[in-house]
Amino acid sequence: MDGLTELLACIQDISGGNFSNDIMELTSDKYDPFIREVAESVGLMMVRIEAREFALEQANDDLKCNIIATVKAVARGLSLRDPYTRGHGERVGRYCERLARRLEWSKEEIWTVQVAGTLHDIGKIGFSDRLIQNEDTRVDDEMLNEIRMHSEWGYCMLRGLSFLGPAIEFVHSHHERLDGTGYPCGLKGDEIKQGSRVLSIADVFDAITTNRSYQDAMDLEKAFSILRKLAGPALDPELVEQFIQEINENGLEDVEDNFTTCAVKKCSLP
Ligand SMILES: [Fe+2]
Repeated sequence: MDGLTELLACIQDISGGNFSNDIMELTSDKYDPFIREVAESVGLMMVRIEAREFALEQANDDLKCNIIATVKAVARGLSLRDPYTRGHGERVGRYCERLARRLEWSKEEIWTVQVAGTLHDIGKIGFSDRLIQNEDTRVDDEMLNEIRMHSEWGYCMLRGLSFLGPAIEFVHSHHERLDGTGYPCGLKGDEIKQGSRVLSIADVFDAITTNRSYQDAMDLEKAFSILRKLAGPALDPELVEQFIQEINENGLEDVEDNFTTCAVKKCSLP
């Protein structure tokens, strides 16, 4: 292959999106000055394009982080009305992340399920004062209806944020059950995505291991026995066992109260 043909092949490669360093080899002394000069210019152009792409990617990540921070700020508004939900979303997000990591999901999948976990109850912002202030374990039909609307409301709030991808669906279906008796759609078995299954386990576990208006936090033994009871009809049995192993090995999540510490946490995107 002569120099000109090699140069053309390299340029075609670059135009196809393959930014390899082959072009730099054409800048060596063994090629004639014209080939070397063109190769240097193309190499420089390639470096500039790469730098611009990197900056764009960075800006895109920053934008995503800012949008998520805004949505989380709205979600935290809920905890001003209902102190029992403080930290719930963030803890559930972290449990989701830990289980997904254990299952060796991709970086993008781990991020998606963590975001879904953090935002899963955002629709509760639509709850009435009557429901939020209710300390009774019994709820009437009207309140039950309201409770069952929160995953749909959350979905409606998030569905415009297309970069959240499958996280929006995970939020929508985090109260579906494998036996088809969940809500809002009554999905059954394989119709429920893995991300929603992970989220359901993390959600139930955090709800039973923290203090609520209607119950005191349960110890691990009791919490695991409840998860195992729900495995099959409601939760994915294999994922439940993996989750229990994860908690046994690495313990519970402890999230600081944002309203007393105002800690600024760095957003980590894949
Ligand atoms: Fe929920």
